[in-house]
Amino acid sequence: MNSLFDPIKFSHGPAMKNRVVMAPITNWQSHEDGHLSDDEYNWLTMRANAGFGLTMTCAAHVQAGGKGFPGQLGFFSDDLLPGLTRLANGIREGGSIAIAQLYHGGMRASKELTGVQPVSASALEKYGTRALSTEEVDQLIEDFILGAIRAEKAGFDGVEVHGAHGYLLCQFLSPELNQRDDKYGGSLENRARIIFDIIDGIRSRCRDDFNVSVRLSPERFGMKIAEVIEVARRLLADGKIDFLDMSLWDFKKDPEEEEFKGRSLMSYFTELDRGDVKLAVAGKIMSAADCREAIEGGADFVMAGRAGILHHDFVKKLEADTNFTSIDLPVTRAHLENEGLNSRFLDYMASWDGFVAK
Ligand SMILES: Cc1cc2nc3c(=O)[nH]c(=O)nc-3n(C[C@H](O)[C@H](O)[C@H](O)COP(=O)(O)O)c2cc1C
Repeated sequence: MNSLFDPIKFSHGPAMKNRVVMAPITNWQSHEDGHLSDDEYNWLTMRANAGFGLTMTCAAHVQAGGKGFPGQLGFFSDDLLPGLTRLANGIREGGSIAIAQLYHGGMRASKELTGVQPVSASALEKYGTRALSTEEVDQLIEDFILGAIRAEKAGFDGVEVHGAHGYLLCQFLSPELNQRDDKYGGSLENRARIIFDIIDGIRSRCRDDFNVSVRLSPERFGMKIAEVIEVARRLLADGKIDFLDMSLWDFKKDPEEEEFKGRSLMSYFTELDRGDVKLAVAGKIMSAADCREAIEGGADFVMAGRAGILHHDFVKKLEADTNFTSIDLPVTRAHLENEGLNSRFLDYMASWDGFVAK
């Protein structure tokens, strides 16, 4: 079995020095116009400097209208490049691979933040969305590719295409939310087309050693596990991406769908042939034992979300103590301030059940 501290090679770009990644975390810390703030820079570079093999940005919007949270870092304009360049350099100087997570909020973007009606694959009354026209979907694909080109220019080692958690690409994948009848709707192949076209565009227009990954989540938002397995199977078989990042919310959990119960959700993905593509899992990786269990269960590496919020030096702590477990929740605001969270991010974390002491 691979140790947590064995390096890992990707098909493109630099090797990763260990198997623990700082997961993408929306943190509300940047400026409202999408420019990087000092607080977001400090938050991420603290982690990159403290041992994470790879440090991913928050979900960052590729169109101004795709913003889903206050203080979200943007990738939608060349004006943002100076801040993005500073961030990429800061992460890489820490010895960590710098990856930008690209996304569009779709139905989860809010008019209060963007000033425009949210868009989705379809007009959804519940979310007040309008359906994108076919030409607008083509433009969206182009904007994801331009976001990746911007990341490349800024000096990031690569990008992750965010196809999870009910955001716009996930809305296209979802048979419940996507009711289109053009080439981007209907069959699974059509609903997944947007993701595959984005990957092809990035691969053909970014440099050869650019690391490209995709994040998927198999449950909620109308996702069907069998379909997500099929998309994962194709992504792994195509071999165009460097890693597939499966966001499970709990890597030990059983699937919700009846016909898949009886074994872990993760196991449906670790059992797929993956050639040179690597597989990452996220969800309640809180201790050294969790990291080992996920890797023994067949993942190549792990993504730490909340453990990385709680401990900027989670990786150093794992290295020093093979029995390390994250601090018990809830934690005090003072603890999180010391971990580099500003007051806005702290308020956001207080909305996550049981995280911050009242
Ligand atoms: C505050 C917060 C913000 C998050 N923001 C993002 C995000 O921007 N993009 C994303 O793909 N996942 C996001 N996630 C999900 C995490 O990346 C991770 O997959 C999830 O928290 C499960 O891992 P954990 O149990 O180690 O926290 C977020 C999670 C939290 C707690």
